[in-house]
Amino acid sequence: MQHQGVTLWFTGLSGSGKTTIAKAVEHELKARHCKVEMLDGDIVRTNLSKGLTFSKQDRDINVRRIGFVANLLSRNGVVAITAAISPYRAIRNEIREMTQSFMEVYVNAPLEVCESRDVKGLYALARSGEIKNFTGIDDPYEEPLNPEVICYTAKESIEESVGKVIAELERYNYIS
Ligand code: PPS
Ligand code: MG
Repeated sequence: MQHQGVTLWFTGLSGSGKTTIAKAVEHELKARHCKVEMLDGDIVRTNLSKGLTFSKQDRDINVRRIGFVANLLSRNGVVAITAAISPYRAIRNEIREMTQSFMEVYVNAPLEVCESRDVKGLYALARSGEIKNFTGIDDPYEEPLNPEVICYTAKESIEESVGKVIAELERYNYIS
């Protein structure tokens, strides 16, 4: 029997761990022979959303495109994993309503922690004003109010966070 697909939507600040956890979940699902595809904001912005800025308008376009593609995949039995900051609650909820099955994972780490990690050096550039409209610094991030999963990446190991996501996918029978 083909499993029902799902859009597995990771949201969180830059440097919170979205890509890391999403990739680890993808790896685990592939090991279980699930059909899985990943849409990472950073990568989508090099092709499908090439040329878009970080204005609210362009972020909304980017996030809606990711939601559109994820829905096409998930309605065909794929676990479509997305990892974009997707800072606006209304757009995330719009995608939740639009998709057949949707699971939101809030990758939660305090701004100070994300900033101290500064994996790409972007927080430093945002603080010095060289990058404008940086999420969490001079641009908003609206936390999910009722996400299916919250990963506290400042306190949990990657394995713990991945385990929570997998457990929730199992609980909803999206995987077995
Ligand atoms: S959004 O808001 O959902 O459209 O953003 P997304 O497509 O996920 O892109 C976020 C990545 O782009 C880098 N970056 C920025 N992030 C936030 N604000 C600004 N101004 C910005 N400029 C560049 C950043 O590396 C994000 O990657 P992650 O993986 O989230 O750290
Ligand atoms: Mg990332």
